[in-house]
Amino acid sequence: MAKLRSGVSSVVSSVAAYDVPHYYELALWHGADLDKIISFLLDVLKVHGRVQRGGTGRVLELACGNSALASGFMKRGFQFVGLDLNEKMLELSLLRTREAGHEIEVHHKDMKSFIIEKKCDLAFVMFNSVYRESNDEFVAHLKCVSSSLVPGGLYVLHMVVEGTHDDVYTTKNFKWKVKSGPVSIKAEFHRDVLDYVAQLRRETLQLRVVDKLKSSDEVIFTESSVDKVIYPQEFLMLLGSTDFEFVGWFNGFDLLATLDSTVGTDYLVAVIRKK
Ligand SMILES: C[S@@+](CC[C@H](N)C(=O)[O-])C[C@H]1O[C@@H](n2cnc3c(N)ncnc32)[C@H](O)[C@@H]1O
Repeated sequence: MAKLRSGVSSVVSSVAAYDVPHYYELALWHGADLDKIISFLLDVLKVHGRVQRGGTGRVLELACGNSALASGFMKRGFQFVGLDLNEKMLELSLLRTREAGHEIEVHHKDMKSFIIEKKCDLAFVMFNSVYRESNDEFVAHLKCVSSSLVPGGLYVLHMVVEGTHDDVYTTKNFKWKVKSGPVSIKAEFHRDVLDYVAQLRRETLQLRVVDKLKSSDEVIFTESSVDKVIYPQEFLMLLGSTDFEFVGWFNGFDLLATLDSTVGTDYLVAVIRKK
């Protein structure tokens, strides 16, 4: 146990950050503009989707975690379907949506080997949450998503394809702080290079939590994963092994935001459509 300058102790927890979903939810989603993201996803579906006769009204989030957008979709008349490998995240998803009076559908499955029998019009994934260590795993994932969509349905991938080249492999740090009631969180996200040729990097999320209802100590929760970098032209080539066609690149969750390809963006959104 380390002593912080303020006299507060700091403890490294053996519990992973995704296993404390209420802290993850606060760190990642506190104050987020949920309506903006939902409107973007529904506008993209309206403009670029080719689903038959009004579609199924079903929206699938891959690696849904705490399903921050679920209640917003349900309020707009869509059935939200969440898929995740972490049961604690799914429990929080169910709890939060029930608190809001909605019954969502959740699937405790791996995103690289699943099928959702009742097909969806739209699938999406946030914050580069496609867990892949090779192109083969990425294509396997795309095929699973495709099998869960109706023809003409869309898959929207947020930050999965690299929108900048300059700092893909240099250590990248994002740090931010969140406070709500008795809980304060210092969050940090960073990337480290593992293999330049295999295009592998490690992504690490660290949550330093002080929850005054429990203790005045700071508890550190960490989550790490290995990530295969995927470049735009590589992505387009990989689509050739699937029954998706390319629709377009967007700069964040804004249908009208210009993507300046000479500058690039950290928030590249790729939209593809099932043929
Ligand atoms: C960065 S969080 C994203 C959660 C949520 N979508 C969000 O935007 O905050 C990544 C999520 O992916 C899940 N996950 C990790 N590997 C997975 C896999 N192979 N299949 C399905 N979900 C996975 C984790 O359990 C975690 O909930």
